[in-house]
Amino acid sequence: MEKLSGLCVLLAALSLAVAGDKVTLANFTDGDNLTLNVRPSYSEPIINIVWKFNGDLVADWVKDKVPLELYGTFKLRTELDTGNARLVIRSTSKADTGKYTVEINNYVHGESYDARWIKELNETNKPKVVVRTLTCTHDSERCDVSCVADTSEAEPVTYSWKFGEKEWKVSEKDMVINKIDNVHDKTITCRISNPVSENVVSEPIENPLYYYNTGPYWWLLVPLLVLCGCGGAFFMWKRRICPFNPNPNKLDAPTSPPGGPTDAELAERETLKEEP
Ligand SMILES: *[C@@H]1O[C@H](CO)[C@@H](O)[C@H](O)[C@H]1NC(C)=O
Repeated sequence: MEKLSGLCVLLAALSLAVAGDKVTLANFTDGDNLTLNVRPSYSEPIINIVWKFNGDLVADWVKDKVPLELYGTFKLRTELDTGNARLVIRSTSKADTGKYTVEINNYVHGESYDARWIKELNETNKPKVVVRTLTCTHDSERCDVSCVADTSEAEPVTYSWKFGEKEWKVSEKDMVINKIDNVHDKTITCRISNPVSENVVSEPIENPLYYYNTGPYWWLLVPLLVLCGCGGAFFMWKRRICPFNPNPNKLDAPTSPPGGPTDAELAERETLKEEP
């Protein structure tokens, strides 16, 4: 059993070596320099190099026999270092997306290169923080928020979030904010990055869960105090208590309008007199 699994490992390693399927990802965007390094660097002298792009010739060179030749769209913007077989392609565009392989001294090199054009993120991709929960107020326990941006052809995109004065944190496109962690965060901001561009930042939005630091329900006291004050003042006025009237049992000097007191006012005075 042990022998068998050992053999399996050996076979797997062998097939990997033969197939040479180590594929290195290279990301680029418009106008980049795409550098394809050959690893491991050759110990024996390099006498012949052929680079291919999706099976077509990019560059070939044979020491002392064939001078460096470049092909097709690569002609005027490509450099080959014949010392280490490194290929550098300048002014890249989406059309350069594909598989790059190299043969050195007539052997296919075990490492190939998967070069991918990725759209650069810039202000036109500026993300926006969107509150997904329909009704989200400072009374809500939790709310869903998303960092929304046009990321077509720009993937893979990483999302980071900033809540209030806290640090930026890499996270997901969708986040859940909650009353406990986010109550003191005044604003919410997000930003996006990808392998070819960094940190396009949204405008901050106000955190719907934000609540003043002064403790809960203090604002209820204000109308309560006003109400008490008014009620007290009204009571004192009714009872002719100082400072509204220095003589509680005597009515004010007549301040009635020219027509004299109305019936209602007279009735009120009567009831006041009857009171002890
Ligand atoms: C290229 O992008 C991929 C994600 O698609 C990432 O895993 C890889 O590390 C990137 N390569 C480089 C050289 O940045």
